[in-house]
Parts: sequence; structure tokens; C-alpha cells
Amino acid sequence: MPEKYVERVLLTKEEIQKRVISLGQQISNDYAGKELLLICVLKGAVVFLSDLMRAITVPVFIDFMAVSSYGAATESSGIVRILKDLDCSIDNRHCLIVEDIIDTGLTLLYLKENLLSRKPASLKIVTLLDKPDRRRVDIEPDYCGFRIPDEFVVGYGLDFNECYRSLPDVCVLGEK
Ligand code: IMP
Repeated sequence: MPEKYVERVLLTKEEIQKRVISLGQQISNDYAGKELLLICVLKGAVVFLSDLMRAITVPVFIDFMAVSSYGAATESSGIVRILKDLDCSIDNRHCLIVEDIIDTGLTLLYLKENLLSRKPASLKIVTLLDKPDRRRVDIEPDYCGFRIPDEFVVGYGLDFNECYRSLPDVCVLGEK
């Protein structure tokens, strides 16, 4: 198997910080006068969630879901499994799914349909990163931090085989 290494920085921590603040302002305006439940998709979105929730000024609650992802590969299997479900009910609540990245869209489509069946008052999606070129199903985020090209990225919570999550920048992973 070819060795992976961090090839270059795609988004600096300063660029990310600026964009997350502006997403927080936009979301706060859109949900003015309401309470919001942020549904964080583990583990990749944890860093994004922790910055985003502090940039939102309406009252927020948080809960977590874990779904199966790529494991040690960089290609989606297309099979989505819930590994950890929400602790709380979302019935009649305003919910915002917090994702790290949308690639094929398979994970999010499954998640969206699953959560809609629980009858939330509303359900929207915020993603830090979007790779639209890779989309295989019809799903779009309501809020998006950055559109990026078709490259495998790590850092700011995103991993390859559980490595690189703690890098402060979003970086492109290369092969030796
Ligand atoms: P999708 O179902 O193909 O949209 O994949 C979504 C999930 O795959 C994300 O939540 C990530 O966990 C993972 N993923 C997709 N692209 C990347 C990437 O470039 N780096 C790290 N993880 C990724």
C-alpha cells in the first residue's frame, strides 16, 4: 500500500476561523428567536462543532451520531450504518446536522432521511467542506464553509485511518 503524507495546506486555520464565524452569524440570523439542536456527526465534525457552536448566538443544544465511514480506505463503500444514535428526541425541534465534509453524499442522504422520519420541526445541513465533483446522490448543504476540489483532505477533525485529526489546518494528503 502506498505511504500517505501531508502534501500541502489547502485551508489555513485563519481562513477556517474567519469562515466559521461568518457561518455562525448567518445561522444565528436565520434561527433568530428559536432554539437550535446541533447534531454532530462523529468523529470528523467535532472540531468544526466546537468552533461553530461558539459562533452561534441563539440558544444551542448539542447531540452526537456516529455512522460508518471509510475505515482505512479513501473511497465510500456506499453502505451506511448507525454506530451511535442520538441521546435525545428531535420531535418538533429545529435541527441542524453538522458535517465535516460531503463527498459522494451517501452518508448524509441516509442520515437526512433517517432523521426526517423522527418528525423534527425543521432539518438543515451545515458542512465545513463540500466536494461537489464527487456527488453520487442528489443532496446539497444549506450552509457550506468551503467548496474544495476532488482531493483527499485531513486536519481540523478530518482523518485518514484515524490519523491527522489534530492538525489545525485542512491539508491535502498525498501518496509517496
Ligand atoms: P460521503 O458519504 O461520501 O459523502 O462521505 C462522507 C464522509 O466520508 C465524511 O463525513 C468523512 O468522514 C469521509 N470523507 C469524505 N471525504 C473525505 C476526505 O477528503 N477526508 C477525510 N474524510 C473524508
